[in-house]
Amino acid sequence: MNAKLSVNINKIATIRNSRGGNTPNLVKIALDCERYGAQGITVHPRPDERHIRYKDVHDLSPLLSTEFNIEGNPKEQKFMDLVLAVKPAQVTLVPDGTGQLTSDHGWDTVTHKEYLKDTIAVFKAAGIRTSIFVDADVKMITGAKETGTDRIELYTESYAKEYSQNKEAAIQPFIAAAKAANELKLGINAGHDLSLENLKYFAQQIPGLLEVSIGHALISDALYFGLENTIQLYLRALKVN
Ligand code: PXP
Repeated sequence: MNAKLSVNINKIATIRNSRGGNTPNLVKIALDCERYGAQGITVHPRPDERHIRYKDVHDLSPLLSTEFNIEGNPKEQKFMDLVLAVKPAQVTLVPDGTGQLTSDHGWDTVTHKEYLKDTIAVFKAAGIRTSIFVDADVKMITGAKETGTDRIELYTESYAKEYSQNKEAAIQPFIAAAKAANELKLGINAGHDLSLENLKYFAQQIPGLLEVSIGHALISDALYFGLENTIQLYLRALKVN
């Protein structure tokens, strides 16, 4: 089975917010992404609402027909309240600091095991699938299993950075992490800096990859190829059989 493509639309909100109006229209773009073949929509509302606003999440939720994935740090009570009110298909927990430019590390699932366990139980009781952002480190994957999460999201920045120098070496920790996750029956998502250059190899090499969430590169590619073509190109890169 091919991994699903969830389009992260944060960048669209960044462009919109730069002028204060409603251009581009975030909801329309999300619906168009679905029409063009995306199998999910991802947003990452941050406390300063510099891109996705809390209101956007409420506006999008009833209109989407694919999986809605909301990412963020559950240490923010506003984030917990938002996710529990909206009840998306999936929540992805990310250990970001307030004001952080973008996610740059996964959870330490050993140190934060009890906290994650309690938090995940709250979301699962509300019927929301959970995923936690982790580095490609078998110890962190084993720790993730003990939190009760349904899935992990592998943080792929290191893979993307090293891909052009030595893709075989870059993928190794991710294959090991994925094998451990498969053995533990944890679902596998992945994201951060995936692109048309590095996605196909990643999808081919990672056993049991269920979903990728991609924003920065995909929206940048859309400037050249258009959104519809770009989504088709990413879907093609995800075809493994
Ligand atoms: N996954 C997580 C947890 C993220 O924070 C982000 C960026 O918002 C992504 C995936 C998508 O990364 P990119 O924009 O580089 O595709």
